[in-house]
Amino acid sequence: MEMHIVSKRKDLSLAEALTTPDGLAVLGFLIEAKKADGRGGSENVETHPTSDMEAWNKLTSYLPHIHNTNSEVNVTDGISIDDLLGDVNRAEYFRYNGSLTTPSCNEAVVWTIFKESVKMDQTLMKMFPTHAGHHNVFRPTQSLHQRKVFSTKSASGARRPLVALLLLPACLWAFSHNLHL
Ligand SMILES: *[C@@H]1O[C@H](CO)[C@@H](O)[C@H](O)[C@H]1NC(C)=O
Repeated sequence: MEMHIVSKRKDLSLAEALTTPDGLAVLGFLIEAKKADGRGGSENVETHPTSDMEAWNKLTSYLPHIHNTNSEVNVTDGISIDDLLGDVNRAEYFRYNGSLTTPSCNEAVVWTIFKESVKMDQTLMKMFPTHAGHHNVFRPTQSLHQRKVFSTKSASGARRPLVALLLLPACLWAFSHNLHL
């Protein structure tokens, strides 16, 4: 699963932002199921963070009321994005100029995809496709063409994220599915 935090440039209207290469900024956090023992699914289990399940419990409790994009629900709980993210590393990420994920796929988005995934309970995670009725909504890998994907330098000693060109492992190509061809 992937969470998108979408921001629009405040000096532009939405219509203007959609036709400006950096009109929108999206922060993308990948979300993975953690195993029953509370650990992450992949490498480096000891250092993987756990997000605040209380916040995700609150958020998912509204899902049964959301049937389609016209559904409205009155959210009375205070749910902070900060709590949803927990202690996931926010200093290491990939960045590229891309597009909206949905038609008309405007090339108006500066994407920031964080390297570390948020870990959450699989049962909570499954509530999203179950209640939203969306399954297998991913798009096949798209060609990068002349675009470049930048990465923070993955050095443990680096205090400030340094932007450096990175040779991407194959698995990362899935993240560039938002590129408009
Ligand atoms: C995005 O495009 C702008 C120019 O339109 C360029 O200055 C910037 O470096 C690009 N950013 C990335 C991450 O490619």
